[in-house]
Amino acid sequence: MTAIDDVVALPRNLHEYETAARAVLPPMAWHYVSGGSGDEVTLRGNRAAFDRWRLLPRMLRGLGEVSTATSVLGQVIALPVLIAPSGRHRLCHDEGERATARAAKAAGTIYTMSTAATLAIEEIAPEAGPWWFQLYVYRDRGLTRDLVARAAAAGASAVVVTVDVPQRGRREAEERVQFAMPPGVATALLAAPEGTRVSAGTKGTAVAAEVNAVFDPTLTWDDLDWLASLSPLPILLKGVLHPDDAALAVEYGARAILVSNHGGRQLDSAVATLDALPAVVEAVAGRAEVLVDGGVRRGTDVLKALALGARAVLIGRPIHWGLAVGGEAGVRHVLELLRAELALDLMLCGLASPGDVDRSLLVPARAING
Ligand code: FNR
Repeated sequence: MTAIDDVVALPRNLHEYETAARAVLPPMAWHYVSGGSGDEVTLRGNRAAFDRWRLLPRMLRGLGEVSTATSVLGQVIALPVLIAPSGRHRLCHDEGERATARAAKAAGTIYTMSTAATLAIEEIAPEAGPWWFQLYVYRDRGLTRDLVARAAAAGASAVVVTVDVPQRGRREAEERVQFAMPPGVATALLAAPEGTRVSAGTKGTAVAAEVNAVFDPTLTWDDLDWLASLSPLPILLKGVLHPDDAALAVEYGARAILVSNHGGRQLDSAVATLDALPAVVEAVAGRAEVLVDGGVRRGTDVLKALALGARAVLIGRPIHWGLAVGGEAGVRHVLELLRAELALDLMLCGLASPGDVDRSLLVPARAING
């Protein structure tokens, strides 16, 4: 593991982590991590949405100190920032998901393990503090059931069902570099069962072909009962944007909803997650917790998401940047930067903790002329 002190000029924010990661990652890994689908309208839109809000702070609250702690599904966490499920961490650092899990534990937050992890569930879980398992539902329901059983046995505290990948979004940057896994790095849970493995077509990559061969595009709401029957763990749905889907998710028993467009990697021109959030919060009406991801890079982004009704946020790409720059220490530093920014921002807003953030904190940027 690279000690963070070995890194000559320590990035001072997540944007600098992105720049530093780009400098050290092989182009293939860089394009896999950074890319979005199509024209990347949604990828850019996620970030742009944060800039349409300004904060309206209160003064003379005599806080003395603030706390960034909160809870999600009853789990107390040190900051309202969780690790989003993202695949193939060993592309960015040899220790891969093990490093990420350790960093999340050290930071006091929840690690979400992806179905596209490059280590086995049983190799990662012992390193983790509280962790969730992200599930892609396979055409092969027996394999799907086995994955959930393994995650539950290894100590996962929730199953995050990702619902926005009936097929993989077309990521042209990956096609351009003919993205393929380097020798010695492989997904541990995703390998297509014998006989379904497919090679790349003229347009797509082998990775996209494999995903499309394995994931089940026929999934419906009624399958959620079956998913719930697989383990006693609570189910979260990831990838919901429409308020009617959020209401359905609650009716079908989801304990939390992750408002997500997969970091702009699936449907291009899908709504920015921060823009979708308020209607989802309204539709859910307190019956489940609402989380959001997509473009969160600053403490003030976290504040804006909380003010629009999110319980907490998740971050995806910044985890890969931290891994690329400094392995476990890099991911810890990424999380510490966000925690420290949020603590300062809460103080400057006159708010003692995430629980004190509400809608009155925000004004639309246009109302005050930018
Ligand atoms: C992802 N994401 C993702 N989501 C998921 O449910 N399962 C997965 O395996 C992956 N894999 C993945 C890989 C990479 C490289 C990225 C960047 C993203 C989506 C992820 O959970 C999350 O929704 C977004 O990354 C959030 O946006 P930001 O923080 O990357 O802007």
